[in-house]
Amino acid sequence: QAADDYQQMEHAAKFFAHQLRHHSNSDKVVSYLKGRGLSGEVVKAFQIGYAPDGWDDLLKALGKDQGSRQQLVDLKLCNRNDSGRYYDFFRDRVMFPIRDRRGRVVGFGGRILEGDGPKYLNSPETRIFHKGRELYGFYEAKQAHRQLEQVVIVEGYMDVVALAQHGIDFAVASLGTATTTEQLQMLFRTTQKVVCCYDGDRAGRDAAWRALENALPLLTDGLELSFLFLPDGEDPDTLVRKEGPEAFKQRLSEAQSFTHYFFAHLTESLDLSKDSGRAKLLKEAKPLIEKLASDYYRDALLEQLARLLRREVSQIADQVQRPQAVRN
Ligand code: UTP
Ligand code: MN
Ligand code: MN
Ligand code: MN
Ligand code: MN
Repeated sequence: QAADDYQQMEHAAKFFAHQLRHHSNSDKVVSYLKGRGLSGEVVKAFQIGYAPDGWDDLLKALGKDQGSRQQLVDLKLCNRNDSGRYYDFFRDRVMFPIRDRRGRVVGFGGRILEGDGPKYLNSPETRIFHKGRELYGFYEAKQAHRQLEQVVIVEGYMDVVALAQHGIDFAVASLGTATTTEQLQMLFRTTQKVVCCYDGDRAGRDAAWRALENALPLLTDGLELSFLFLPDGEDPDTLVRKEGPEAFKQRLSEAQSFTHYFFAHLTESLDLSKDSGRAKLLKEAKPLIEKLASDYYRDALLEQLARLLRREVSQIADQVQRPQAVRN
């Protein structure tokens, strides 16, 4: 069953890629992708495709019998309405196949070309697709590098692809949700250095803090996590196209260490010249520092915390417990 599911997903990816070249809307879609600065080479590397604007093009191509139609429904490539009619889930969208870390297609993201409707549609969860466990572009990044020195986490498909277009071929996207502990764990098994680079807006800044919280139990000595905050209104796609890859790489190399961001965020709205401000900082920092798996980072944060609280490190350390067991 499972092997067959992956095969069917691969067939769907091939179908969409084929439609991008041969459908009667091909010109419109290809010029959309060109307009976003993508070359044919990158489109091919990510196997970007097109889901036709009809109701059942994929269904006709891949749903030859009742069994395969049911499978398309199970894989959320097709829906079945109350009167028993089947129709395609993705219609008139640019398609991004999502591969798992072994390269198997497990889901799709589909971007609308123009007009009404949600900008992106993603495959719902299926028996082979679990959003919080996958990272768009991870397989492709691993293919491009024998050893991944660093990985950049971004929000969107287009961010991954635009960065690759500019030679920054080590970005992954966390599929519209907050980056999960599972996703971070998967990355830290492959690389020592992760840079979070979300959109320069409220949602992006919230995503950064949640990623930091999710990373704390994983950060053992030697792992590096940092944060690149983009100018307001920019995302990695718009910025790399505006500034070019060298400027973007420069920004990456200057990303804030997580220890720096940790206190910058926690003290943002506190007055540390007052007892009440310092008490609040201790109260918020304590449970987070207790999650850390690394002695090195724990000591570094405790030192910094003591300085901000105007106390001795030993006074602070007594109040902050070590984790019960080191995970990972
Ligand atoms: P953004 O909202 O930042 O996309 O969503 P964008 O940068 O405006 O999109 P482009 O550049 O015009 O194409 C980032 C990611 O969040 C998820 C998708 O994974 C998307 O890539 N998302 C966004 C959704 O799942 N659904 C949506 O309606 C919007
Ligand atoms: Mn490279
Ligand atoms: Mn955004
Ligand atoms: Mn964006
Ligand atoms: Mn964008």
